[in-house]
Amino acid sequence: MSEQVEMMLCTEGLYQQAVAVLNDGFLPKFRRMHPDEQIRRSFVDDFGLIALGESSSDYIATDGQRVLGVLLLKEAGGPKHLPNRSTGELVRRYGISGVIKAMILGLLVAHTPDQDELYIDSIAVSDDARGMGVGTTMLGFAQELAVKHGCRRLTLQVMVENPRAQRLYERFGFTVTHTVRSLWLRWLTGYSGAHYMEKQLSSDDLR
Ligand SMILES: CC(C)(COP(=O)(O)OP(=O)(O)OC[C@H]1O[C@@H](n2cnc3c(N)ncnc32)[C@H](O)[C@@H]1OP(=O)(O)O)[C@@H](O)C(=O)NCCC(=O)NCCS
Repeated sequence: MSEQVEMMLCTEGLYQQAVAVLNDGFLPKFRRMHPDEQIRRSFVDDFGLIALGESSSDYIATDGQRVLGVLLLKEAGGPKHLPNRSTGELVRRYGISGVIKAMILGLLVAHTPDQDELYIDSIAVSDDARGMGVGTTMLGFAQELAVKHGCRRLTLQVMVENPRAQRLYERFGFTVTHTVRSLWLRWLTGYSGAHYMEKQLSSDDLR
């Protein structure tokens, strides 16, 4: 499968498909933010917790027919994730407690990359295409881009309770640099913490 997979920038026409893939992968992680899936979907979108379409570093993996995977990258100086609505409107929609929860979560998972770093902000593969090498292809693409841009490190965060994804990253050469555990994160998402992982790069890593 991975030989037929191509990487490209996410265009407007593919935006909805890409959002669906991201939602499949990440909405379950926000289950505790709101029990209703529809509201959770707009909550995540309105607060920019899954930010697609904000930068020129949003890529998709495709077999030419449909979006198989989404890869959102962040470099030093890239755009910050901001809510799509005014604070007043967010309070009206989700209440003060919803706004506070989203702000805390945003702070807990936010990462600002250094000059020498390319950060994988989100990576997700469509439910029915998992385990076929699409994720590995996207990691290879991110690595290639990082080397081309002169970055020395490819980095990401993975929840402590996501060992399969962690195994994929380790197989690709990432190691855990540190782990941040947080009772706030546990309260908001059910996850006890996040591993920060990185792969040191050299020009030999160019495919
Ligand atoms: C993690 C993810 C991007 C991997 O993409 P993928 O295309 O399935 O990855 P590959 O086919 O290249 O590699 C397969 C490996 O991915 C990992 N993996 C993680 N979750 C998986 C899943 N639900 N199904 C299959 N493989 C998964 C495993 O390490 C697997 O190897 P294994 O068979 O030894 O367990 C994908 O499973 C996904 O979108 N998960 C949901 C969103 C998510 O958790 N993203 C990562 C956040 S840090």
